[in-house]
Amino acid sequence: MNLTLKIWRQKNASDKGKMVDYPLSGISPDMSFLEMLDVLNQELIGKGEEPVAFDHDCREGICGTCSLYINGRAHGPATKITACQLHMRSFKDGDTIYIEPWRAEAFPVVKDLIVDRSSFDRIQQAGGFISVNTSGNTQDANAIPIEKENADKAFDAATCIGCGACVASCKNSSAMLFVSAKVSQFALLPQGQVEATDRVLNMVKQMDEEGFGNCTNTGACEVECPKGISLENIARMNREYLSASLKG
Ligand code: SF4
Ligand code: FES
Repeated sequence: MNLTLKIWRQKNASDKGKMVDYPLSGISPDMSFLEMLDVLNQELIGKGEEPVAFDHDCREGICGTCSLYINGRAHGPATKITACQLHMRSFKDGDTIYIEPWRAEAFPVVKDLIVDRSSFDRIQQAGGFISVNTSGNTQDANAIPIEKENADKAFDAATCIGCGACVASCKNSSAMLFVSAKVSQFALLPQGQVEATDRVLNMVKQMDEEGFGNCTNTGACEVECPKGISLENIARMNREYLSASLKG
């Protein structure tokens, strides 16, 4: 395949940045999108040019680091997969492909296609955990009966990989889908009840402080989420928040 890549290049956080064109040939349709970028970087290094900086780790849809906006869509044209799971057969020979970083105030660009998503870490630290007594008499989690429907919904919520595609695809740069997944995975389980009130209040407060926008029910987040996290979680978080506010 012969391609024209238009890639966002930005030296550092304070650089203005710009799109740069790169012609690329000899790409196999069986390559992953990141392997295609590896080929480009090898060429750039060979020519003594600076390779394109992009985030990646697992390359199998687990770590959530490969945050690429491809042809105007978070994680590219396919649904329910991450950019690292995208293959070049999703494109045609001769295509022009636009590759940009996530765009959101709370995700500042560090370099080229890499953004700083530590705002998500701070939201998690504000309440995305449970405190368990590990002194030796801890009850085995498997010994606590949990309704199958709730267990399934909690599991689905827990599949959120914190990639940030929901924020990048939202016109308000809202983090509600991410935060609601993290709230839901505990709200649906008995282990999450002890800190439930503080959790939702603290996580929503941190989300607001980080500069994420609010949800206006557009639903782009759900469409672009590689893990299919449901908007139902946002409704659950809103109920949790209302009831926690009344208690507080
Ligand atoms: S909700 Fe989906 S899109 Fe948002 S961070 Fe989690 S996995 Fe990524
Ligand atoms: S590199 Fe880990 S999800 Fe893509």
